[in-house]
Amino acid sequence: MKVDLKNVNKSFTKGKNEILPVLQDIDFSIEAGEFVSLLGPSGCGKSTILKLIAGLSHPSSGKLKVNDTPITGPGTDRVVVFQEGGLFPWMTVLENVTYGLKIKKMSKAEAEEKAMDGLRMVHLGNFTGAYPHELSGGMKQRVAIARALVMDPDVLLMDEPFAALDEQTRLVLHQELQDIWEKTGKTILFITHNIREALTLSDRVLLMSTRPGTIKKSFTVQASRPRNPSDSVIVDLEKRVMAELEEEMNKVLKEEFGDDYRFKTDNVRDRDHSDMGSHI
Ligand SMILES: Nc1ncnc2c1ncn2[C@@H]1O[C@H](COP(=O)(O)OP(=O)(O)OP(=O)(O)O)[C@@H](O)[C@H]1O
Ligand SMILES: [Mg+2]
Repeated sequence: MKVDLKNVNKSFTKGKNEILPVLQDIDFSIEAGEFVSLLGPSGCGKSTILKLIAGLSHPSSGKLKVNDTPITGPGTDRVVVFQEGGLFPWMTVLENVTYGLKIKKMSKAEAEEKAMDGLRMVHLGNFTGAYPHELSGGMKQRVAIARALVMDPDVLLMDEPFAALDEQTRLVLHQELQDIWEKTGKTILFITHNIREALTLSDRVLLMSTRPGTIKKSFTVQASRPRNPSDSVIVDLEKRVMAELEEEMNKVLKEEFGDDYRFKTDNVRDRDHSDMGSHI
């Protein structure tokens, strides 16, 4: 098992004495080379799970392991890609991608060679001298992915990496990420609000409940690869995931709008690619 969580609980203290339970009995594992997505309502604790696995935060109770070793802090075996790529604006693309390698004490020549391989993988081999402000949103996320890949982590942790991109760019990056995943065999944990995105990319989708977040259901996606979002397996699964989510979304919306609001999934399927924005 590459990643293993057992009975993980996490609470935050809110104000003086109030405790906010965020994660409750989270229990799942990810096999080596598996692509798993976490899907769930806003605030259910998805990013909290990712930060625990990244070692950036600690559980209130429970056990987390990577490669059968307990997670005690950040490590080079896990790298995170965030929604806003987090590139250094004063560095060129090449400098951004070699940055982590130089910290690892790799020579400049070797770091640049590796960075070029990474940049070519995301089709940015000709943009080494560009600065982040000269790049589109999609290109910035590609650089962030290249920067993560060159570190050769065992596990790639991706927190809504494509959420800020337009639909066309997002579709292109879905294809690229699938290619990268197939070429590198990386283990990936991917967080998204977008049901179709989760189903298009993943071997397995873990659906979370509203806070305190639990894993409500696991869906295995048996569609052939390369994936096509209009594949009947994916379309059928989308309906099942939506049905499960209806209950959770109603809870969230009730909190926001009061008792007179009831969410209908039928309205959503015709909307924009089952992206629930902040509501799921
Ligand atoms: N450091 C913290 N201190 C206090 N509360 C926190 C902290 N980090 C997260 N929370 C709370 O924990 C809950 C879960 O947050 P988290 O960011 O994991 O949700 P999420 O599922 O990623 O949501 P979104 O889909 O909006 O990104 C939220 O209510 C948030 O306010
Ligand atoms: Mg989040």
